[in-house]
Order: sequence, then structure tokens, then C-alpha cells
Amino acid sequence: MPRRRKHKTNAERQRAYRTRKRESRYGYNVEGGTPPEIFQWLDKEFGFTLDVCASPENAKCERFYTKQDDALKQDWTGVCWCNPPYRGGRVDEVEHWVQKAYESSLAGATVVCLVPAQTDRDWFHDWVLNKAEIRFLRHRLWFTGGRGAHGTFGHHPSVVLVYRPATVE
Ligand SMILES: C[S@@+](CC[C@H](N)C(=O)[O-])C[C@H]1O[C@@H](n2cnc3c(N)ncnc32)[C@H](O)[C@@H]1O
Repeated sequence: MPRRRKHKTNAERQRAYRTRKRESRYGYNVEGGTPPEIFQWLDKEFGFTLDVCASPENAKCERFYTKQDDALKQDWTGVCWCNPPYRGGRVDEVEHWVQKAYESSLAGATVVCLVPAQTDRDWFHDWVLNKAEIRFLRHRLWFTGGRGAHGTFGHHPSVVLVYRPATVE
């Protein structure tokens, strides 16, 4: 009996292969929670008042925005925590979050982000270098919950970015 084909066309099969490959390199962090020790370390220093990307289950602050609110369309005020969703290192995804973090800091917020250390990406050069304080983390993080490329996370290095409020001269 002939084997049932999973993909109808060769192009579809190749696309699925490329997606799998990308996800296994960068992990898949859509719902993955920040490791508690990382959040506690930073919360002790900054005292976060708003988790800008969360769900009721994984929110790190009493005030938080969810996918339904769409944090990218909301105001970020106070001291914000941002561990944004991303899928397998898609180029455009983190960009919107770090751009918003930078712009919010110009408007007076403090924003601390936990993002993949993709130092070759345009977003890193456009919205991180010379704009944020960068803290490179030792080892790879294991995010909690969610679904990883292999049922887990921890496939990529991460950095913490600190966007401080702009000071008016
Ligand atoms: C990587 S998890 C971070 C969870 C938690 N804040 C933490 O640090 O442990 C990203 C969260 O952002 C939520 N999310 C996705 N799109 C969003 C959006 N446009 N606005 C706000 N939250 C969003 C996801 O549902 C998910 O809960």
C-alpha cells in the first residue's frame, strides 16, 4: 500500500522542513514563562508594575496586558516587564516589542525585556544597540510551560535589555 503523503506538494514539504529547522534553532516561546529566578533577580532591582505580554495564567504583575488587549496598541507606563512571544526566531517578531520598549522609555517608562540574543538581526542593531543597556546571560534559559520545538525551551542564548526613561536636559 502506498505511503500517505503528509504534504501535498514538494514546496509545502520544504516549507515545513524550513519551519522545523528554524524552530529547533531558536525554540518557540509563545506562552513560555520566564524562569522564576530570572524574574526575581530583576524584579528585586526594578520593582515591576506592569507585565506587558502575559496571560492571566503567567502574568508576573497585578497589572498586565494579554493578546486580546494587544499590548503593542496600549500605553506602557511605569516599570514594565516584557518577555515577548516569538516563534522560531522569526525576524519581524521581536522587532515590534523592542521598538515599543524604546519608544515607551522616551515617553517616561522603564522597560526591561528578555529576548533572544540575535545580535545579527536588524532589530538588534536598530532598536537595541546604543539604546538599551544589554546584559548577556550565561547559559541558555529553560522557560516554563508552553510548547517548545521539542516540548521544551532552551535552544538559544538570551539577553536582558534595560530601557531607562529618557532624561530631559
Ligand atoms: C513568552 S510569554 C511571557 C509570559 C510572562 N509574561 C512571563 O514573563 O513569564 C508571552 C505572553 O505574551 C502573550 N501575548 C501574545 N501576543 C500578545 C500581545 N499582542 N499583547 C500582549 N500579550 C501578548 C502570550 O499569550 C504569552 O502569554
